[in-house]
Amino acid sequence: MTTDHLWWQKGIIYQIYPRSYQDSNGDGIGDLAGIRRRVDYLEKLGITAVWLSPIYPSPMHDFGYDVADYVDINPMFGTMADFDALLADLHGRGLKLILDLVPNHTSSDHAWFQESRRSRDNPKRDWYIWRDPAPDGGPPNNWLSFFGGPAWTLDETTGQYYLHQFVTQQPELNYRHPDVLPAMLDNMRFWLDKGVDGFRVDVIWLMMKDERLRDEPPNPHWNGIEPFGSLNHIYTQGVQGIHDLIRQMRAVLDEYDGRMMVGEIYLPYDELMPYYGEALDECHMPFNFHLIANKQWEATVVRQLVEAYEAALPENAWPNWVLGNHDQHRVATRLGQAQARVANMLLLTLRGTPTTYYGEEIGMEDGHIPPEFVQDPPAVLQPEIAHIVGRDPERTPMQWDASPHAGFAPAAVQPWLPVAANYPARNVAQQEQDPASMLSLYRALAHLRQQEPALAVGDYATVDTAVPDIFAYQRTYPGAASFLVVLNFGGEARTVDMREAGETAVIALSTTLTRTGPVTLHNLQIQGNEGLLLRLSN
Ligand code: GLC
Repeated sequence: MTTDHLWWQKGIIYQIYPRSYQDSNGDGIGDLAGIRRRVDYLEKLGITAVWLSPIYPSPMHDFGYDVADYVDINPMFGTMADFDALLADLHGRGLKLILDLVPNHTSSDHAWFQESRRSRDNPKRDWYIWRDPAPDGGPPNNWLSFFGGPAWTLDETTGQYYLHQFVTQQPELNYRHPDVLPAMLDNMRFWLDKGVDGFRVDVIWLMMKDERLRDEPPNPHWNGIEPFGSLNHIYTQGVQGIHDLIRQMRAVLDEYDGRMMVGEIYLPYDELMPYYGEALDECHMPFNFHLIANKQWEATVVRQLVEAYEAALPENAWPNWVLGNHDQHRVATRLGQAQARVANMLLLTLRGTPTTYYGEEIGMEDGHIPPEFVQDPPAVLQPEIAHIVGRDPERTPMQWDASPHAGFAPAAVQPWLPVAANYPARNVAQQEQDPASMLSLYRALAHLRQQEPALAVGDYATVDTAVPDIFAYQRTYPGAASFLVVLNFGGEARTVDMREAGETAVIALSTTLTRTGPVTLHNLQIQGNEGLLLRLSN
């Protein structure tokens, strides 16, 4: 396919959680050499770029999102030589590599924080956010940690509190100090100089905090479950100055050719769009998490959220869609296997860059985590709501085959998280043999998307059907084949009049992978839980 779009616009991003992909050295934890063993698989999948969750040195209090050194590799994952080899392998196959950048906070083990906490007059003191206790000795304000409890911890050495919106061991950097951003930009350059293709930037919209550290007001819409939700986070999220900061990060990417950054931002559309930047000079893409955040998997609701997104996008801003990540319960668990197929067809046929979380291509489900295995901090810190906030279930090892531990680690070792129980029946090896498997569907969808300009970069238009449970849309690109996507979000077979899109079409793919051949569009038959991707006769 040749269009003048950029790789991250026409491509597919695939997220790997390195701890859980492939263990190569028998310690029960995935590593870089393990990922290298799977490069054939990645190439065959039809994806474009691999995004790795953090691989930096870290005490792993938040499984790598607590970075102790931004410019090195955690020995648990391998060496810098392993990293260089992985990058070369991926590039050798024409695949890109995106790293996770975690600029909002460091690990408390980071040298910067070690200095900062030493004394009140240490030159790095104000690289972090320190305040005196409140008059009663308690935290300086009412801010909360995402993972439960106050966002402040008292450090005995100097008698002041420091800010952390995640675990205690993740102190927040102070981007109001003039030296902090330049230091982080240098970390970015280190990897860009090595040839890394971009960054996924962790909680990018949290990087600035209210200068006066004002108390946050109560949230009148709080659901009463997660304590963090009880406040309206107006002084810790999207605070003035954030856009200037992001523009400076973007400028570093623009010093290099063809690099990109995608920002992790959970916000409603109207608040999300400003993160593209007024002159499209901030995030190349702020992640669009609305297929996850929206809990109603219904044709009308999903249609509405696609249309609202399309309408909200600034001119020339590039869209993107996500079904899952390492912080969210797996899509096949949320929707069930039948609709997970429909969801993959949706993801890979909408306009905008798709991001797939490892295992979604085989319909991996949340694993059951027995209490003695629970490791994720929000679950450990809030045992009463662990079943809601715990993220271990979606981080279980990749299911490669039916051998012990699903081929993730040698039989004799205990993987860091137990493999999901369904692995003997649901794994890559089994699905490679099955022409109707989820994996076969994913590969077919990904390859078709990569070949067809209309699917990769074409225009989007909803097609009205007025049939319950059906969401349909068309993708078109000048001079190339057009496609009609018809998705049945319900379990019942339907007949749909799709004459608006033409007389006849040919099935390019059905989610069942059992139907092929021509169809007439005035009485299109679609099975329950089926998605159809139709090539229109131009
Ligand atoms: C992001 C990450 C999450 C992590 C948090 C703190 O939300 O995706 O896994 O716990 O930031 O870094």
